[in-house]
Amino acid sequence: MWVFLNDKFVDRKEAVVSVFDHGFLYGDGVYETLRAYGGRIFMLQQHLARLHRSGRSIGLDLPMPEKDWPALLSEAISRNGLTDAYLRITISRGEGEIGLDPALCPRPTVVILAKPFAPYPPALFLDGVSLTIVQVRRNLSAALSPQIKSLNVLNNILAKQEATRARAFDGIMLNAEGYLTECSVSNIFFVRGGRLCTPSLECGILDGITREVVLLLARENGVPIEEGRYNAEALRQADECFLTNTTMEVMPVRELDNMPVGSGRPGPLTLKLRELFRSNLSRFLG
Ligand code: PDD
Repeated sequence: MWVFLNDKFVDRKEAVVSVFDHGFLYGDGVYETLRAYGGRIFMLQQHLARLHRSGRSIGLDLPMPEKDWPALLSEAISRNGLTDAYLRITISRGEGEIGLDPALCPRPTVVILAKPFAPYPPALFLDGVSLTIVQVRRNLSAALSPQIKSLNVLNNILAKQEATRARAFDGIMLNAEGYLTECSVSNIFFVRGGRLCTPSLECGILDGITREVVLLLARENGVPIEEGRYNAEALRQADECFLTNTTMEVMPVRELDNMPVGSGRPGPLTLKLRELFRSNLSRFLG
């Protein structure tokens, strides 16, 4: 496996980062997860734009201009002999002396990983997944904005651990005010009376790229959309529910806290949006 590290591709055995790297010491850095279908990357420009936004938000200048990334990512795919690929770009503050001050790190560390895409088991798409509402709250936007895709993922990890303890596929976090936000690695949608509802960005969520695509497809197909603030009760009364992210696309949800959502089967709008996602995919490939 070839890994891009800082300025060149190296074998994975040589792809090592210093114990003084501030990404390791402090979670100081940003990342993106991307997916390639037949060698073409889904929503490439949007992922790169978000990477740059995340970097700017923490005062981390990316060492390469946005225009240089597509060729590097293509090379990561082709060198590894891949077509359907999972890609991860990680950029940390870099190596520096102990201390929180980013000025201690002269150069960011850049890593690009490209692996064969490992799909979720088909049964999850056929039957839907189970969710639980977890106790841990989503980071307060004013403290650490969920829109920064940072290497500080502990908030989400705590949610995932709680979900695992509850034997659920994933956990939904509420924000400090008690409104729904998102799951540990995905955005959430639900359907109520034919309306497609999803927490608004103001609730404190990552501005998911798949979420944007699903909203666009819904709008184009005349599905009524509502972005707003919803409590857990709204979700309990939903007819349908699904999750979105780059690796899941549209993932149906069958139950919430051991109670069926709607019929307990993937609902008609969920299936329609999943189908629209698949049939329109080529429009969104770079
Ligand atoms: N996660 N919300 C959170 C907290 C996420 O981590 C992600 C993505 C999403 C969906 O974003 P997108 O549609 O742009 O993938 C929502 C990726 C898959 C990850 O962390 O690996």
